[in-house]
Amino acid sequence: MSERWLDVCAAEDISDDTPLAAAVEGKEIALYRVDGAVYATDNLCTHGSARLCDGFLEGHEIECPLHQGRFDVRNGRALCAPLTADIQAYPARTEGERVFVRFDIQT
Ligand code: FES
Repeated sequence: MSERWLDVCAAEDISDDTPLAAAVEGKEIALYRVDGAVYATDNLCTHGSARLCDGFLEGHEIECPLHQGRFDVRNGRALCAPLTADIQAYPARTEGERVFVRFDIQT
């Protein structure tokens, strides 16, 4: 397996309390900033067809806008019903004015 860090957006595009959607090589992710750290997950909820970028971020928890399921943005863990599946989380980091997200690739 190899890993690639991809440039996904400007750091200033992610505000403290509002998730940001970004498209990276055909994959839609959501980016979050909590206490100065940046986190990334898939954007589509595992329960239905809602986008987490439209949800409500409180601390490290993103609440889905459709049925209020909550995920931990640090690791993608599903925290409550009606969720039954975690969401994919990706390592993210800020370098200078840009945000990079790591995608692992099967080789
Ligand atoms: Fe997200 Fe139902 S679509 S909790």
